[in-house]
Amino acid sequence: MTVLDESLPELDSHTVEFLEDPNQLLGRGPGDRIAVARGRVGKEFFGYETVGEIFRDDRLQPRSPQFYIDKGVEGGPILDYLVDGNLSLTWPENHDRLRPLLMKGFRPNRIKEARENIRGIVRGVVEAIPDDGQLDLVTEMSHHISIRSIATFIGIPVEDVPQFEHATVELRLLGQEPFWPGVPRLETALETVREYSERIVELRRTTPQADLISDLIAERDRGGDEAISEAEIVWNVAGILLAGHDTTRYQIASLIRSVADNNLWQELRSDRSLIPAAVLESQRLHPATPRQVRVAHEDLTVDGVELHEGDVITMNMSGAGRDPAFFTDPDVMRLDRENRFDIGFGYGFRYCLGFAVAKAELEITLDELLDRYSDVQIGDVAIEPTGVIAGPAHIHATFSR
Ligand code: HEM
Repeated sequence: MTVLDESLPELDSHTVEFLEDPNQLLGRGPGDRIAVARGRVGKEFFGYETVGEIFRDDRLQPRSPQFYIDKGVEGGPILDYLVDGNLSLTWPENHDRLRPLLMKGFRPNRIKEARENIRGIVRGVVEAIPDDGQLDLVTEMSHHISIRSIATFIGIPVEDVPQFEHATVELRLLGQEPFWPGVPRLETALETVREYSERIVELRRTTPQADLISDLIAERDRGGDEAISEAEIVWNVAGILLAGHDTTRYQIASLIRSVADNNLWQELRSDRSLIPAAVLESQRLHPATPRQVRVAHEDLTVDGVELHEGDVITMNMSGAGRDPAFFTDPDVMRLDRENRFDIGFGYGFRYCLGFAVAKAELEITLDELLDRYSDVQIGDVAIEPTGVIAGPAHIHATFSR
């Protein structure tokens, strides 16, 4: 059956209400739940299996710089970054050339080494929690863990982090709808990250290390522009900092919140083998990337809805994670689920490059906190709802020994 556009309900998922409780707006029963609606960015799909199908369908591709050119972006740092340094959004031929090069930087021995470094970074941050146990999980904890971990991973000294840590958080404005109000802040942030990146790339050229930046310089020395251009090295440092900072910053804080909200602290404390299940569940309940956008490259039908070549659509990961047709007790964190939320890091040739780093940060943070504290209480929570990357602005928490 083909559903006509006018028959689709309008639904704005870029709200706190939606992110906190999608089924309040979509419907709680598997039979009477909204499966697709007209959203801020095209038709928006909310079913878990449908979102999985969209990820797997080659006829639906991520956006490219064209999406932003069509919005009126004519040049400057936004276009430079999109083309030269944003693996998700660059032209497909750039993506396919650069992804294998970048992937080498995420090889198993690097991840093993990263886990050890992340443990040290997490300990430093957790040991700074005040004696009364009160803090904001986002600005005082996950912010520092995520930026220090990703910076160290790619070859940036932790002491340099204050030079760009506020700018990397601003880069999420790229995925915000409406887009134009955030552009001045986005351009300033991009300039800050680019200037820093130019300096560190120059430094690594003269003093190479075993890190991602030095790897990229070596690839260029071997293959020249056909492998990777100078601008691509500089802008990809910005790209990795964006992809690796805000995402884990949100997810680590949401993980602690979900564990506390669901009274699972004690169970996890006594059985650490359940930590990966808690991480997966936190991605299902509060995904740091609550929506992904795709463009149709030919006419097709998805979940009974006709799409035309050039149509832009949204996969709603928050809605998919709470799909009652796939997950029993969809609003509850359960550590014994058989159906796993396996799309939190995307799929296939677009699968998240940093998933192992992100998982390490999440698992190690929870483990270190469980070691030190016998309980945690959650206080005030504020959510920043817009964008492809979205999550908590702050989560006040109190840990007790
Ligand atoms: C909890 C944290 C994270 C989440 C939820 C997340 C989620 C995602 C998702 C869903 C995609 C696929 C986008 C698409 O299909 O269009 C993706 C891609 C990507 N992620 Fe992550 N990510 C996280 C952390 C990281 C980290 C730590 C890094 C860097 C070290 C990173 C680097 C990337 C890159 C480079 C891509 C683009 C891959 C490509 O297009 O080939 N991510 N991420």
